[in-house]
Amino acid sequence: MSDFLSKTAFVTGAGGGIGRATSDLLAREGASLMLVDIDAAALEETAAQAKAHGGDVATSVVDIANDEQVKRAVDETVAHFGRIDIAHNNAGILGPIGPLADYDLSAARQLFDINVFGVLHCMQAQIPHMLAAGGGSIVNTASVSGVHAVPHIGVYTATKHAVIGLTKAAAADYSGQGIRVNCVCPGFVLTGMTRGKFDAETEAALAAQHPIGRFAEPEEVAEAVLWLLGGKSSFATGSSVFVDGGQTM
Ligand SMILES: NC(=O)c1ccc[n+]([C@@H]2O[C@H](COP(=O)([O-])OP(=O)(O)OC[C@H]3O[C@@H](n4cnc5c(N)ncnc54)[C@H](O)[C@@H]3O)[C@@H](O)[C@H]2O)c1
Repeated sequence: MSDFLSKTAFVTGAGGGIGRATSDLLAREGASLMLVDIDAAALEETAAQAKAHGGDVATSVVDIANDEQVKRAVDETVAHFGRIDIAHNNAGILGPIGPLADYDLSAARQLFDINVFGVLHCMQAQIPHMLAAGGGSIVNTASVSGVHAVPHIGVYTATKHAVIGLTKAAAADYSGQGIRVNCVCPGFVLTGMTRGKFDAETEAALAAQHPIGRFAEPEEVAEAVLWLLGGKSSFATGSSVFVDGGQTM
């Protein structure tokens, strides 16, 4: 029997590549879903896809940089489904590309507001409900940029290092109370963040950074997220799982 039947999941960035793939897999496994994104139209497309698998699906248009909006969506989840068992805190942006000394500070602040504070807002809203219910499982989306640096995405790199730090910090605080917190670290993935963003030569060079020789499909990342969210990873907490085609080995 599926690990996810009778479980309620909260997924951010559900309108995009990795979040949509996770939502789809969770719906196939029978989870009830609260899908969250800032992009209402993209969110509805994901919801329609998840409902086609027979899932009980609700949506909430939220800017994760806004703590009140996040708290409202988490509270709505518990009001609607009666519980929140698992969460994929996944929404994030890449931000402008360029060298650090010239990096626009308002863009840098926005990156931290979404990629770091967004994850913190989600965990702060989710954890009290999970504690009250006796446990839960959280997966945050970090990146290979959480452990290494490549030129011209320095602020994004700093935010993803912070996501790994927040993941470990939450795991240290709550693993003893039944809440496991892990993160997934993808290499380049074919999503709205990357598709059509590079010329053919750059795309080939980026693909070649992965010994597997290509970008990932979002579903390949979602499979790892599912494993981390579910009971089969019962001894994993505070960990960073790399799904990176060997990019960081
Ligand atoms: N694509 C890659 O190569 C790659 C690699 C490593 C990590 N990641 C990470 O994966 C996560 C998902 O990205 P993706 O590749 O699926 O990109 P994507 O752009 O396809 O999806 C991101 C989703 O997040 C939503 N979003 C953006 N800002 C938001 C906000 N403030 N509030 C709520 N929703 C917001 C977008 O509308 C979009 O639907 C991100 O955290 C990203 O940093 C992506």
